[in-house]
Amino acid sequence: MNNISTSNNWDTALYEDKHAFVWQYGEDLLKFLNPQPGELILDLGCGTGQLTEKIAQAGAEVMGVDHASTMIEKARENYPHIRFDVADARNFRVGKPLDAVFSNAVLHWVKEADSAIAIASIHQSLKPGGRFVAEFGGKGNVQAIVKALYSALESIGIPQAQVENPWYYPSIGEYATLLEEQGFDVIHSTLFARPTPLAEGEAAMENWIKMFASTFLARLSPEQQIQIIRAVEQQLKATLYQQGTWTADYRRIRIVAIKL
Ligand code: BEZ
Repeated sequence: MNNISTSNNWDTALYEDKHAFVWQYGEDLLKFLNPQPGELILDLGCGTGQLTEKIAQAGAEVMGVDHASTMIEKARENYPHIRFDVADARNFRVGKPLDAVFSNAVLHWVKEADSAIAIASIHQSLKPGGRFVAEFGGKGNVQAIVKALYSALESIGIPQAQVENPWYYPSIGEYATLLEEQGFDVIHSTLFARPTPLAEGEAAMENWIKMFASTFLARLSPEQQIQIIRAVEQQLKATLYQQGTWTADYRRIRIVAIKL
């Protein structure tokens, strides 16, 4: 996350220190991109730039964009030889048509109503025959965590309808349909469970919630936030905490689509 979030103000230290798994898992997706020397590639939602750098190492001419200015500042600091810019998936424009758009762990931050617009932006940025290679949270992603958050919030009188869930986790059918409607040929699509161990022992679920699920806790006092986090941990401990490690119930959707 690489992140396109409701916030432009991601804590990049927390991200790089404790959530490196985001780009480590993303390396698998690079095999689907298979970047070639000289290709023009956009890393959409590049976060702090680790996967952008891998694409550059393959010899491609790559640029990274992210909605969060804090991420872009850190990416520039990490990899000064690569171009990074702040941009929004829903309305970015490129100077020259691209061979590929790559996106890891980002598009679940683009809500359902905006996804067709984001896909149209991606489509217009590609050459005919250009490829769109993406992985993000799919149907059922972090379902146990979301359920525990709603239930903890309800127990202090906050109904689900008043909580901002920032994510869109589509099924293959939904997302492939959006892609086809915008002029893509979907040549690969999978939805798979990828239980993801979180890095930092007992505090890992708390860190994950603070990093990624802060909208669920918006408008709560610091004391209430901790109360909710403790209640979530309590609910999830039996299923997602084993031998000192929290595991998030991630489910990934992976897509390769070609611009017609
Ligand atoms: C994901 O990569 O699936 C994800 C990351 C942060 C929050 C929610 C989902």
